[in-house]
Amino acid sequence: MGKREESQLEPEPLRTIYDVSSCYSEVRYRELIEKSGLMGIELNHLFENAIIDEHNRELYTYLMVWEPSVGGGIYIAAKKDPDNPQGNGTGKSYALHALTHRLCRMGIPCLYGRTVDFLMQLRAAYDEGSQESESRVLMRYTQVPVLLWDDLGKESFRTDWGPEKFYYVIDYRVRANKPIIISTNFDLAEIEVRFGRDNFGPAIASRLAGFCETWTLGGPDRRLGRRCVR
Ligand SMILES: Nc1ncnc2c1ncn2[C@@H]1O[C@H](COP(=O)(O)OP(=O)(O)OP(=O)(O)O)[C@@H](O)[C@H]1O
Ligand SMILES: [Mg+2]
Repeated sequence: MGKREESQLEPEPLRTIYDVSSCYSEVRYRELIEKSGLMGIELNHLFENAIIDEHNRELYTYLMVWEPSVGGGIYIAAKKDPDNPQGNGTGKSYALHALTHRLCRMGIPCLYGRTVDFLMQLRAAYDEGSQESESRVLMRYTQVPVLLWDDLGKESFRTDWGPEKFYYVIDYRVRANKPIIISTNFDLAEIEVRFGRDNFGPAIASRLAGFCETWTLGGPDRRLGRRCVR
């Protein structure tokens, strides 16, 4: 009659339920790292791999628990001393790389880059056949949830347009309360001079001073410590 008796129904197939949440977080982490701007050896710079000592303990411990949702930014300047007059190699970039990893693990999209790359990308937007417009570059830097900017103050400006673009991004992020993490070899008074004392310099320095928690990172140049002696 085309009907099946209750007793002839097949048993429900066995179903296995897999917990894919950790797999999903790993995939998400990899996607975010891929887009974060980290490259090469920077991909190994994790807090878990870092040598922690008396020079970096306080800052690294702070960064290991820092929550972007609190807003504001972090300004990490080199601590200069006679043994390391420009404060090179103290681990400022490493700190930014490790924080990028940590935030990506938390599922938070980040953009890590050197400030000189930002300028290069803006200039490249005017190259013939460029795939990217200036406004798209600016959107990337203003809209990303956390911006990690390395080596602020290393740029050389021939005209006013460069400082103006930095002012635009910093002012936007401060107004929107979107975190900026900066590493630099210069304190804010020096940044003011580098970005032009008569216009954008004081405006940039004032915003960063008001928005960011300021840290210094000192100690020896860790690059020299790894040189092998023959
Ligand atoms: N805590 C750490 N543990 C292990 N290696 C580190 C640590 N901090 C820094 N390094 C290594 O020391 C070298 C210098 O560090 P980094 O590039 O972060 O210095 P920096 O302060 O950014 O220097 P600069 O002012 O020249 O940009 C790098 O090779 C980095 O991987
Ligand atoms: Mg650096």
